[in-house]
Amino acid sequence: MMQTRMKLPVWPCHRDILNVIHENQVVIISGETGCGKSTQVPQYILDNWLINRSISLEKKKSCLNIICTQPRRISAVGVAERVAAERIEHIGDTIGYHIRLERRVSSKTRVTFWTLGILLQKLMANNTLSGVTHVIVDEVHERNADSDFLLMLLKDLISKKHTLKVILMSATIKADTFSSYFGNAPVIHIPGKTFPVQQIFLEDLFEKTEFAFTRDSRFIDKYRYKKVDEQLNKALTEENIIAVKLSYNIEEETAGDDTLSLEKLICRYPGYTKLTYKNLFVMNHEKVNFDLIEKTLEWIIYGGHNCTRWGSILVFLPGINEISAMMEQLLKNRYFSDTKQFVIVPLHSSLSNEEQNRIFMTALDICKIVLSTNLVETSITIEDCVYVIDTGMMKEVQFNPVRDMESLQICWASRTNIMQRKGRAGRVMPGMCIHLYTSHRFKNLLDEDPTPEVLRISLEQLVLRIYLMHEGKQMDLNKIFEKMIDSPTNLDITSAKQRLQNTGALDTKYILTPLGHHLAKLPVNVRIGKLILFGAIFCCLDSALTIEACLSHKTPFNVPLEKRGKIRNPKLKFSVAHSDQLTVLEAYNAWLQQRRQGTHCSLTFAAENFLSVHTLRTLADLKYQFLELLVSIGFVDIDLPPRQRGIDYILSITGPEININSKNYKLLQGLLCAALYPNIATIYQPYAQFDDLEDYLCSQRPRCQMTFVTKQDETVYIHPSSVNSNVTYFSSPYLVYHEKIKTTKVFISEISMISILSLILFSGYKLSITHDGHHNLLSLDSGWVQFPIKSHTLGLILQRLRKELTKLLEQKMQNPLLNILSHQQGKRIIDVIVQIITKE
Ligand SMILES: Nc1ncnc2c1ncn2[C@@H]1O[C@H](COP(=O)(O)OP(=O)(O)O)[C@@H](O)[C@H]1O
Ligand SMILES: [Mg+2]
Repeated sequence: MMQTRMKLPVWPCHRDILNVIHENQVVIISGETGCGKSTQVPQYILDNWLINRSISLEKKKSCLNIICTQPRRISAVGVAERVAAERIEHIGDTIGYHIRLERRVSSKTRVTFWTLGILLQKLMANNTLSGVTHVIVDEVHERNADSDFLLMLLKDLISKKHTLKVILMSATIKADTFSSYFGNAPVIHIPGKTFPVQQIFLEDLFEKTEFAFTRDSRFIDKYRYKKVDEQLNKALTEENIIAVKLSYNIEEETAGDDTLSLEKLICRYPGYTKLTYKNLFVMNHEKVNFDLIEKTLEWIIYGGHNCTRWGSILVFLPGINEISAMMEQLLKNRYFSDTKQFVIVPLHSSLSNEEQNRIFMTALDICKIVLSTNLVETSITIEDCVYVIDTGMMKEVQFNPVRDMESLQICWASRTNIMQRKGRAGRVMPGMCIHLYTSHRFKNLLDEDPTPEVLRISLEQLVLRIYLMHEGKQMDLNKIFEKMIDSPTNLDITSAKQRLQNTGALDTKYILTPLGHHLAKLPVNVRIGKLILFGAIFCCLDSALTIEACLSHKTPFNVPLEKRGKIRNPKLKFSVAHSDQLTVLEAYNAWLQQRRQGTHCSLTFAAENFLSVHTLRTLADLKYQFLELLVSIGFVDIDLPPRQRGIDYILSITGPEININSKNYKLLQGLLCAALYPNIATIYQPYAQFDDLEDYLCSQRPRCQMTFVTKQDETVYIHPSSVNSNVTYFSSPYLVYHEKIKTTKVFISEISMISILSLILFSGYKLSITHDGHHNLLSLDSGWVQFPIKSHTLGLILQRLRKELTKLLEQKMQNPLLNILSHQQGKRIIDVIVQIITKE
């Protein structure tokens, strides 16, 4: 094994690395992926210490405790296992790991691989890491918000704790940024041995593969396709080309290929064949073209080129959905379905370690096709990769103002990402990188560098953490953010604070509420956090987890494009409680029921009801992950069995007690209100037979047809995909919605009707009692929502209940293990709230 270790590019630098670490408090090590940073650097420090200890009696008392962080759980475990294996040891001896809910260390452990999150938690609790001698932060170039935040905390810590060594490890991207952040700390560049990689762009790929779109292709603009042949003949005449060249505006040079006329395309790419022009003109450039990838793979293996046929092929796809779709398509291909010749390996961060390890196994005569997300850009190495097919796309967390939430969006990768992808092909011999987009896009339209995560996500989670860390102390939030490598704008910070106030995590004076406390400890969006916390407290855990999984991922209903508008909305079959979310819950549970009868039943059921099995399985995985979070902060007190992918057994592992209200739809509507508020619309209905309240509302705003109005006083319309779209009467005057989209009109979608009591008890609005001369009024949020109540006392009782709920959260905060179900007062409050809501 030592032999193998000595062959890695990092080996010749090992003395250097040790010396520089010895002389400096902060060191940055940068090197090509696979050169040996993650697995070797901790070992060099460890081996050096072991040798010194054995030869020097004085140093016998010195201690060593290296913490090495990894951005993902899977890499923390993976690298730890690899290092232990290299030392022919078991995990938990000298080498260990610590990830959420799992810790494998002993008194002998000297190197522990942690996830970023675990180290963050320690530092946030003002832990000074006593006993730790080295902190190694791996993959800092990823620039995710957590790692930037961690670097800020470490920068603070080293100024107080001079004995602590900090080592940052990065792929070759932008190591200097970190050096200047840490006062020009030394950078060690590990020279890599890489071979040249030939780049082929889309226009040349079309020539080489002779790929042609068909009339019914999913990847073309149908309208352009119809006319293209006729236009092409005209456009290709000599005079025409000269005329267009003369009128070609330099400014248009940056316009995307898909906006150009055929003539201009021809000018931009002179000398190509008719077929290529046709392809470039009709294709949809923003879509991942699975057919083209398939054709390219065939060309690599059987086509007319003189590059090697040896080695693995790595395909970069944006996300797990595209990986599954590609995999399905390749398994139907006449060549690639032959398992004696080809193995197709998916690779993304939600795979288990064993599944990921499949990429390391190499059989000599089998060609490996790896379908991967950008995980393989830097954090995993495929030894024998010679070909890279790059779609140029990736998924990135972005704040989505429509949902007022973050979500994963497909976007174009930056040139820096793409150069990393290209580099993967030249590890063992000269390679080839095929880009499925034009050279023009590469040169002119892609960003130079990726945007650091902290500049594109919503800051609620970071703001909450900072509040938690500074509780009871004076602080200036903006100043703290200024200390990060890249600081978000003041506007972004302020709006995050506002949203936290709306969620009820901060009070009117911007002080952390008990709810805020719990949310700060959950590494998820505050809305998600709130719903799952409430789900546990109100004993409807399983349902709350399903609803939340759908809100944060997507609905499993999926009607193919060609059938949309032609069939009845499949949701209507499961429709309940005027709620899209509860309707999905019904459908999900019905699917689970079918699954118990067998795979065949569940597949038929899903197909008949337009449910995506893939999405349903992802929802099951997400539910388990959310449950893990609740267990880790002590909200649910169970021993978690190991995860089984795509299988939902939450109900049985959490037991009946905490799920006693899982079928209580009125309560669940309340929880939806808690999660989605302040996305609320008021319903104004035209009908006569109103109770007090609606009379009151109508007298405030006379209307002659049903209208929906948001707090910003904007009229909105219910999206046709909602189960509420053709409803003619609602028994309550309020709706919560998940999304607001502007197309021809402003539509709201994913909607639930909610009761007034839900608003009172579960929204974060400030509650006050007033009188307008005729009625006692209960007023929310300084009068935006206002309605009459029978007596002043009733108002007081409701106010009191809200207070008690806050108090309960406070107690649970002081003692996360407090079991509300066996806590007399707590149980009473929860029971009363459930009763009132149910009987309303
Ligand atoms: N689980 C593993 N199984 C087999 N080989 C591995 C494993 N993990 C790493 N390696 C090998 O060790 C080398 C160094 O990996 P690593 O230290 O992760 O590199 P870096 O962190 O610089 O990207 C890789 O090139 C690969 O050959
Ligand atoms: Mg690494």
